[in-house]
Amino acid sequence: MISRAAVALPAYTEEVVHGLTSRPKTLPCKLLYDDHGSQLFEEITRLPEYYLTRTELGILQDYARNIVQAAGSPVSIVELGAGTATKTGTLLRAFARRQMRVKYFPVDISSGALGDAKERIKEECAKVIIHPVVADFGDGFHFLREIPGRKVVLYLGSSIGNFEWNDATAMLRRVRDQLTDGDALLLGTDMVKAPEILVPAYDDAQGVTEEFSKNILVRLNRELDANFDLDSFRHIAEWSPSQSRMEIFLQSLWPQTATLRTPRLTIQFRQGERIHTENSHKYTLEMIERMLCVSGFKLENTWFDAQKWFALNLARVQAD
Ligand code: AVJ
Repeated sequence: MISRAAVALPAYTEEVVHGLTSRPKTLPCKLLYDDHGSQLFEEITRLPEYYLTRTELGILQDYARNIVQAAGSPVSIVELGAGTATKTGTLLRAFARRQMRVKYFPVDISSGALGDAKERIKEECAKVIIHPVVADFGDGFHFLREIPGRKVVLYLGSSIGNFEWNDATAMLRRVRDQLTDGDALLLGTDMVKAPEILVPAYDDAQGVTEEFSKNILVRLNRELDANFDLDSFRHIAEWSPSQSRMEIFLQSLWPQTATLRTPRLTIQFRQGERIHTENSHKYTLEMIERMLCVSGFKLENTWFDAQKWFALNLARVQAD
């Protein structure tokens, strides 16, 4: 038998140890997305309170022709964090009506998700040529260089909202640096709105988001041999007006101790103490324009749903 200590620790171990020994305690939100977490997120996108996914899809459906026209063609379509590509079909079909041989490059860290994306798009738009790209954005965006011709890069779902301002602009800048004149970015952004709408979207009545949040502890229990007691924490979702974001926490219901066995670490919690697990930034149009501008893009068009809850923004690479 191989002893546990001989097995390499997960790559995120150091980050977890650092986060749990910081004050306030934090955990990196990327840990939310193991197989079970990704499944729970898909479930979240279908919740009545979670308006983001269906609102963005509505905008794509209503304005696909306008978006394609504004983007210009011919282009290759690259989708960052494509996952299983549930929203992209409408847009690809609209491109296929305007140009021959639409090429679609879904990019994701999960090759399993990309397999599903390929099947789905083959069904929905038979004419589109699909080239899945497995990549970890932590390793940069060099793969963009290898995609020939003019490009439209899709970054949908307000995934950008997980990043703090400086990290978001740094990421967009790294994308921009692999693109050339005339290339475009289509960025999905969730807008600032009443907390009465925002808070339930991150704290739903069925408790799916709570399960999603706690899955991070389930994962540490399994992968780092930890002993977090799930029933001793509660899920909190708060709107921070000063930071313009939803903040997600796990709060300790009473004083308690948790331990990791590999690596060995004891973590004390006071009653009410929180672990900050995720942020989801919400934007105004001014913030979006600014974020794109400092990243080397010029905002050209924005399409909203009727309530202006969500936006799709088309931005063009700006020469330096
Ligand atoms: C995948 C980052 C867009 O912030 O709305 C949903 C993640 N977290 N519910 C979001 C999430 C809790 C989601 N993003």
